Amino acid sequence: MLAFLTLALSLLVLSVRAANWYTVEWEATQFTAMSGDMIVPKLPQAGGTPYVWPGLQSGNGVLQAVLDGRSGTWWIGDGFYGTPSLPWGNGFNVNPGDAVHFAFSSSGSVWTCTLSSNGKSATTTLNITGSTMNRAIFAAELTNVPFNFGPITYTNVKITATTAASSWCGKTAHLGAYNYSVTGATASGNVCSIAKIVQNSAV
Ligand SMILES: *[C@@H]1O[C@H](CO)[C@@H](O)[C@H](O)[C@H]1NC(C)=O
Ligand SMILES: *[C@@H]1O[C@H](CO)[C@@H](O)[C@H](O)[C@H]1NC(C)=O
Repeated sequence: MLAFLTLALSLLVLSVRAANWYTVEWEATQFTAMSGDMIVPKLPQAGGTPYVWPGLQSGNGVLQAVLDGRSGTWWIGDGFYGTPSLPWGNGFNVNPGDAVHFAFSSSGSVWTCTLSSNGKSATTTLNITGSTMNRAIFAAELTNVPFNFGPITYTNVKITATTAASSWCGKTAHLGAYNYSVTGATASGNVCSIAKIVQNSAV
C-alpha cells in the first residue's frame, strides 16, 4: 500500500514533464550525498529528447547529472531543475562506453557536484535552499525516443542519508515496465553501497 501510494505520488510529480520514465529509486528521510560510475549507453535515434541521469529529488526539484542526447551526441552536465531556478552547471561531451564518475555532496543547502571521465572534469556548486532530498533516482526520461539504446549501467554507487541505510538500502522502487537489476546492495552506517545497477532496454 505504501509502495503503491509512493508510486502514485511519483507519477503525479513526474507527469509534469511529459515523458516516458524508466527508473530505479531509493527513498529515505534525507539524502546528503551520492556518487558512482555511469557507463554511457549507445546513442538513441535522432529527433527526440533523451535524458539519462542519476539524481536526488525533493518536493521542489531534482539535482541531476544529466546525460543529454538532444543534439545527436551525448553531453553530460550537472544542474538543479526546480525551485529555486538556478543556472545549469558545467559538463562535457562523452561517447558510448565511456565511464563517467559522478558525485553530489552537500554542506547545508550548498551542493558540490563533480563529473570526470577520461581526463575531462567539471565542477558545479549549487545553493539549493528549501530542498530535502528524499528520493535517489536513476532515470531514463524519454520524450519521443524509444528505450532501445540500453543497457544503462552504473557501478560503485554509494548513497548517503541522515538515517541508517539498513532501513532503506534493500528497498527499491521503479517506474516503467522494463527489466532492470540491482546487485550487491549493502548497508553500512548511513551509507548504501550498490555494486551494480543495470537498466535494460524496454523495446
Ligand atoms: C544560500 O542562499 C540563501 C538564500 O538566498 C542565503 O541566505 C545563503 O547565504 C546562501 N548560502 C551560501 C553559502 O551562499
Ligand atoms: C533481464 O536482464 C538480465 C540481465 O541484466 C538478463 O539476464 C535477463 O534475461 C533479462 N530478463 C528478461 C525477461 O528480459
